[in-house]
Amino acid sequence: MQVITAISEMQQWSQQQRRMGKTIGVVPTMGYLHDGHCSLIERAATECDAVVTTIFVNPLQFGQGEDFERYPRDMERDTTIARAAGSSVVFAPTTAEMYPSGFATTIDVGPIAERFEGAFRPGHFRGVATVVAKLFNLTQPHVAYFGQKDYQQCLVISQMVRDLNMDITLRILPTVRDQDGLAMSSRNVYLSAEQRRTASLLYRALQAGIDAIARGERRREHINKRMQEILDQIPDARIDYAAAATAERLEEPDEFPPGASVVLLLAVRIGSTRLIDNMLTTVPYD
Ligand code: PAF
Repeated sequence: MQVITAISEMQQWSQQQRRMGKTIGVVPTMGYLHDGHCSLIERAATECDAVVTTIFVNPLQFGQGEDFERYPRDMERDTTIARAAGSSVVFAPTTAEMYPSGFATTIDVGPIAERFEGAFRPGHFRGVATVVAKLFNLTQPHVAYFGQKDYQQCLVISQMVRDLNMDITLRILPTVRDQDGLAMSSRNVYLSAEQRRTASLLYRALQAGIDAIARGERRREHINKRMQEILDQIPDARIDYAAAATAERLEEPDEFPPGASVVLLLAVRIGSTRLIDNMLTTVPYD
């Protein structure tokens, strides 16, 4: 496995792979790899001839006062994990090369980026879309792999790929969870032992929302309340949102019709750690 840091070297490698007729899979990450990332890399390795795992903590997607500085970083550990999972290349560019002075172009995908995460983290998805577009240009993938855990991010990237006619197939893979249901996230390391114990209530809240819908609840406020009640049991928690929305456009009708695809979205701060999670379901017919 190669570790590439220079942009020009990454471009040469991608061009060469394409000239040889190889398919390239990319797994964009911010590093501190966990089993969720591994599932993406492993899938990419089964579907593509060559796999690039990108590792770049992207300053453009962090707001003021967020955790850019303290975001966990461990390049040595990450390269070992990426190699074992089947990466051909780790691409870890420097911030100076990604955003040289004078850098000015950003990508704004419109309304889908303004709701939920976008409302609580203004500019976040502009940063995500911009860096992902750059990483796509540099790695020239045929297929790109993302985790469903960042559900709205997946919608944002799909919108960008569609609108800008990027010739890339997106694969969204299921969230990988710890035994108690907590979604794998690099940010879980911030949690104290006690916070980690109560963090599984996010999963329980999502399940309560899913159960309510399965039992026939279609009223959005009632579904949200079910999730909220569970989350209220977490001491020291601040709920940014616990919301049911339409899966494709994240709209919030008063009631979801039978057959509707619904996503349940959570963003919760436990102490100073902000966690997100989601689950998808379909509203049953009577
Ligand atoms: O999901 C992430 O880790 C990041 O948002 C991504 C897609 C790598 C862009 O920086």
